[in-house]
Amino acid sequence: METHSLTNLINKVVNKLLESKSVVVFTGAGVSAESGVPTFRDKDGLWQKLKPEELANFNAFMRNPDMVTEWYSHRRKIMHQVQPNPGHFAIAELEKFFERFAVVTQNIDNLHQRAGSKNVFELHGNIERNYCIKCKKFYQLGDIYPDKAIYCECGGLIRPDVVWFGEMLPEDEYESAVKASRTCDVCFSVGTSAVVFPAAYIPIYAKQSGAFLVEINPNPTDISSLADVVLQGKSGEIFPLIVEEFKKRKGL
Ligand code: OAD
Repeated sequence: METHSLTNLINKVVNKLLESKSVVVFTGAGVSAESGVPTFRDKDGLWQKLKPEELANFNAFMRNPDMVTEWYSHRRKIMHQVQPNPGHFAIAELEKFFERFAVVTQNIDNLHQRAGSKNVFELHGNIERNYCIKCKKFYQLGDIYPDKAIYCECGGLIRPDVVWFGEMLPEDEYESAVKASRTCDVCFSVGTSAVVFPAAYIPIYAKQSGAFLVEINPNPTDISSLADVVLQGKSGEIFPLIVEEFKKRKGL
C-alpha cells in the first residue's frame, strides 16, 4: 500500500475516533507476533507444526498430561522472555482517551496487561493462571516451568487456565465482550484470522450493531470484506500511527 493512501485511511479512522465515545479492540496472535510469540495459522505458525487436537484439548491432557504440561511450560517461558511491542503500547495509550474502551483478546500471553491496558477481556484464558481440575484451586507458577504433570495437594491434576478446543469460553468475559462489541462506535480487529468462534463473533456483532469496523492485518482475512477500512500492515507499525495522528488532532 502506498504511503499516501495509508495516510488517507488513517485519517478516516481518526475522524471516526474523534467523534466516538466507545471503542473495542479485538486482538489475536498477530498483535504479539512482533514481540516474538508465534502465531497459529501463519506459515511458521504453531498449528503447522503441532496438531491442536493433540495438545489443546482436555482429552489430550488426560491422555498425556506430561506432554501437555511441558508444552505450556515452554510457551509460558517464551511469553516471559518477550516484551510488549509498540502495537500493545499504542492500544494501551488509546484507552486513556475514551470513556468506554475494551480490549477483547484471544491471546493468553498477558502482553496487553503488561503494556498497561486496563480493561481487558480474555476470551481464551491466561497462561499465567493454572487450576486443579478436581478442587479448582488456583496456582501461579511464576518462573517454575515443570516438564511433567503437576498435582494439587488434593491429588488432582493442575492444568493451565486456558480454553481448549471443545471447551466453553469463560462466561463473564465473553458476555462482557459481547456487550462492549454491541455498543461500541469503533471496533478494531487486529492480528487475527477471525476464524475461531465464538470469539470471532466480536467484530461481526460490532459491525451488525452499527460500529465502524477497522481491520489491521498484513493479510486478508474472513472479515476483511466486512471492514469499513482495512489497514494492511503490522499492528506494531500501524497502531502507533493511528494514536500519533489522534493525539495530534486533539492538540496533544
Ligand atoms: P492466527 O494464527 O489464526 O492468525 C494470526 C493473524 O495475525 C493472521 O491473520 C496474520 O496475518 C496476522 N498477523 C501476523 N503478523 C501480524 C502483525 N505483525 N500484525 C498484525 N497482524 C499480524 O491467530 P488467531 O486469530 O489469534 O485458540 O487464532 C485464534 C485462536 O486460534 C487462538 O486464540 C487459539 C488458536 O487455536 C485457542 O487455542 C483456543
